[in-house]
Amino acid sequence: MQTIFKELTKSFEETLLESLIKNEKKEEFEKIRKNLINQASKEEFGDYQCNICLVLSKIYKINPREIAIAFIETLKGNKKISNLCENLEIAGPGFINIKLKNKVLIEAIKSNIKCPRAGVPLSHKNNSHSKKKVIVDFSSPNIAKEMHVGHLRSTIIGDSISKIFEFRGYIVLRLNHIGDWGTQFGMLITQLKDLYSSDLKEIDSIKISDLVEFYKASKKRFDNEIEFQKRSREEVVQLQSGDKKSIEAWKLLCNQSRKEFDQIYKTLNIKIKERGESFYNPFLKSIIEDLNYKNILVEDQGAKCVFLDGMTNKEGNPFPLIIQKKDGGFNYATTDLAALRYRFNKEPYGDNAARIIYVTDHGQSNHFEGVFQVAKRANWIPKDCEVNHVPFGLVQGIDGKKLKTREGDTVKLKDLLSESVKRAKEDLLKRLENESRFENDDFIFNTSKVIGIGAVKYADLSQNRITNYQFSFEKMLSLNGNTAPYLLYTLVRISGINRKNNMTEEVINLESISYNHDLEWKLIRKLLKFDEVIISIEKDLMPNRLCNYLFELCKTFNRFYDQVPILKGEIDKKISRLTLCALTEKTLKLSLELLGIETLERM
Ligand code: ARG
Repeated sequence: MQTIFKELTKSFEETLLESLIKNEKKEEFEKIRKNLINQASKEEFGDYQCNICLVLSKIYKINPREIAIAFIETLKGNKKISNLCENLEIAGPGFINIKLKNKVLIEAIKSNIKCPRAGVPLSHKNNSHSKKKVIVDFSSPNIAKEMHVGHLRSTIIGDSISKIFEFRGYIVLRLNHIGDWGTQFGMLITQLKDLYSSDLKEIDSIKISDLVEFYKASKKRFDNEIEFQKRSREEVVQLQSGDKKSIEAWKLLCNQSRKEFDQIYKTLNIKIKERGESFYNPFLKSIIEDLNYKNILVEDQGAKCVFLDGMTNKEGNPFPLIIQKKDGGFNYATTDLAALRYRFNKEPYGDNAARIIYVTDHGQSNHFEGVFQVAKRANWIPKDCEVNHVPFGLVQGIDGKKLKTREGDTVKLKDLLSESVKRAKEDLLKRLENESRFENDDFIFNTSKVIGIGAVKYADLSQNRITNYQFSFEKMLSLNGNTAPYLLYTLVRISGINRKNNMTEEVINLESISYNHDLEWKLIRKLLKFDEVIISIEKDLMPNRLCNYLFELCKTFNRFYDQVPILKGEIDKKISRLTLCALTEKTLKLSLELLGIETLERM
């Protein structure tokens, strides 16, 4: 309904300017025109609401109801408005409630059913020159370390945000900013060389398959053996200067980790381009030079840093973002600055992005705030371009503490995903038994996989991402509530209707559709909100909006399904109602695809 909304807003604006805003107040008008019309705060108020009369009443010192009466009179005289609106009604102290004409809603339904995008417009007008590039930096685990639930959350949210931008027609570059560079590699490579003779010839990948243990063992040596520590430091220098053997050992470690990560991406069906921190290594020096040249860099106790405006430490002193350490080493932040600059640079020296979105836990909020500030001060964010940090809360166990196994170990992602699939399978088998249904192994395998993986993804996405969330298999796999199985089940119901319906496509004549049941109108209004939801996510990067919308849509649909006979009525009724089923199905399928969740015909 975005187009209707825009049209209506425009007509309201014009009328307002013509009738109520005297010339001398035009400036005021510029200030207040922003939210001239809003979504109705409650369904029974209608479709939209206009609160401008209350604002005007303050400017003109006239009773708001009086203004509203006069305004409505002029609005009614506007042809476009009278074509769109059924009713303009004063409510409360001077609000105007707006109800759209049934005819207008039906036309919108017809147009959305014909549109493969269910009415969601592209962000650009069919001309690839105006296509913008969006970089989504997500997932980003670290070499030789466990990919943990925080990375899982980043992966799931980042994938969905990428999909939504792709659907809107942006060019999306999904980047995996893997932690594959830094001082810890000195220690890892030294350990590798110690254990497997310095030519590394006999190493086959299996021997370091348990990389996490390998990491722990080298860390222990690093902390306890001075001689090992010294060699590790030297190793870093060798690696950074491009020593062949060191690089070879480094690659080995990366390959091994990559195998682990790829397994997870495969299970989750995630596409992402690996471009680790090491990629930006050649650009680090020039970051220092540029900041120096722009007089932003300050030397403090031997380290080169930027003191951040508006960010203070405990003592109230400006907080430094350290760009180069005392020993000459670079930091996580330095790489992020180099990455940011590269991504905004024009091709072929960069990615030519218009927007960069970083998805990490909120523990990194200060880091990104600092990086963005320095980048702004150094003029590395071009005009009309933007950066966003998309922070999310922690994943906790049901006890509200850090997620752990029963034995108290950290949960391996692989295990977590297969546990979900296993439980989905148990639920399914129970259901089949209760219904005395027989299904073959393929069906059982695929259905439990789709439900199990979908449930984990949906649980991550449906929370307001900023808050922490408690991971509960029981909740996320339940057929009731705001869960993936509930949405999938709604879709399965619609497939069931389609199987029972014996009408051929040709009979379906959209011209004759009409509605008179309250639950039909409720469903229509929900269906028509789809485009607004998608567009709003592009602004505030909150995929949980889509989940909440889908939950509402499914509840509305299921009420309609339970109370309105769909296949029983006369032909026109049947077609009208099947049209709503078809649009619900299309909206659900498109949306689940945007959330990275596979769908089922039966379950
Ligand atoms: N590797 C980091 C971590 O595990 C996340 C990187 C996020 N992206 C970035 N450009 N800093 O916490």
